[in-house]
Amino acid sequence: MTDSPAAPSATRVGPCTQRRTVLMALPGIVLLPGIASACGMTPTPEPASTVQQTTTVPSTTIDAAEIPVGTAKQVKAGDENVIVAQPAEGEFVAYSSRCTHQGGNVQVVEGMTLRCPLHGAEYDATDGRNTLAPAPRPLDAIPVAVSGDKLTLG
Ligand code: FES
Repeated sequence: MTDSPAAPSATRVGPCTQRRTVLMALPGIVLLPGIASACGMTPTPEPASTVQQTTTVPSTTIDAAEIPVGTAKQVKAGDENVIVAQPAEGEFVAYSSRCTHQGGNVQVVEGMTLRCPLHGAEYDATDGRNTLAPAPRPLDAIPVAVSGDKLTLG
């Protein structure tokens, strides 16, 4: 008796990638430039890095109570949108909400799940990692200082 081969692991892709795969599989289909660019199908250079980077925002203080354990929230820091999360009791993290794909404003979907409304990329607010294409790298991290019941971003 031989062991059956393991099932291939599933790879999650965004809606544009799925649409592109279907269109490319159809014989005789020629994509018009407008359709191709709507899903970012035009050739783009490889990202310089797939590693999380760090950025800063204007120093902003918020109440820690605004961010319950296991949740994330988008707040303003100057003109910048920032995702602040508390993945574990007393552990606060923050990220730029600027999508690493093409700069969309990443939103909190539920709990620690983040999604970009432009092309469907997803991130995990626990550490900012990109969990669903087309995001090429994690969200940029922003320093957070905890002082009593206050959080200072930036
Ligand atoms: S800008 Fe394309 S997924 Fe965010």
